[in-house]
Amino acid sequence: MSAILVVRDLEKTFGSLVAARDITISVPAEQTVGVIGANGAGKTTFINMITGHLKPSKGSIWFEDREITGKPSREITRLGISRSFQVAQIFPSLTVFENICMAAAIARRAGGVWGNIASPVHSGAATAEAEATIELFQIGRYRDTAANTLPQGVRKLLDIGMAVVGWPRLLLLDEPTSGISIEEKFDLMNVVMSALKARKITVLFVEHDMEIVARFAERVLAFYDGTIIADGTPTETLDDPRVQELISGVRLKPTAARPGHA
Ligand SMILES: Nc1ncnc2c1ncn2[C@@H]1O[C@H](COP(=O)(O)OP(=O)(O)OP(=O)(O)O)[C@@H](O)[C@H]1O
Ligand SMILES: [Mg+2]
Repeated sequence: MSAILVVRDLEKTFGSLVAARDITISVPAEQTVGVIGANGAGKTTFINMITGHLKPSKGSIWFEDREITGKPSREITRLGISRSFQVAQIFPSLTVFENICMAAAIARRAGGVWGNIASPVHSGAATAEAEATIELFQIGRYRDTAANTLPQGVRKLLDIGMAVVGWPRLLLLDEPTSGISIEEKFDLMNVVMSALKARKITVLFVEHDMEIVARFAERVLAFYDGTIIADGTPTETLDDPRVQELISGVRLKPTAARPGHA
């Protein structure tokens, strides 16, 4: 499978601070990639450069063989890259359905996949897509609930659903399980990952919980001080002595703590 995302020698400086450096990776289509690293390691900076929210100081980014380095975020979204933020971006007083319709309408205006469909644009397309997304993320019982009264896990599903409604091919999730209790995290990620697999979306997700990383990632990038210090299977990266030394919380209990990789 050819690479959907290629990043070469990426660097980002803020004045004298080097927030990202020497980042070179290639991600095959449909891969699920976990991104780990301590606070301030450069994970969000890396995501922000891919999505166009930050301009790289150096290096290049290629999406589906097209260079996107430094392009505005709206254009990058239009090309098929979507994201969630560390803090959910939803309209609090609107219902789940209204939020997803809003995101669907925005995605259509941005001219993503739907914008390329030449057939007559049927008026109910955004509504139908919203309904399909609600079903995909299993939040139908909250369809008419105002977003500001949702349980935290459902709010996360809504936030990610809104990022997926425009049919992106690459999705970047910045700490999708933050603020979720340990008991709920696995269920949340099960729903998210099966939804993304169903739509064949390539995903990079930032995560601090190593059990979640080990369970859901096919590949793990470890960030330290702005750069990638390990890149391999979950076992390879999490067992790497430098990763264990430099990133707290990586040392897991024995294999029982790593469902799927025992
Ligand atoms: N807009 C900015 N201006 C100046 N410095 C910034 C800016 N954004 C990030 N930084 C700095 O760049 C470094 C990397 O930050 P970044 O937010 O990418 O880390 P992170 O790995 O996402 O951390 P966390 O786990 O806390 O979210 C930090 O030192 C941060 O203070
Ligand atoms: Mg961050």
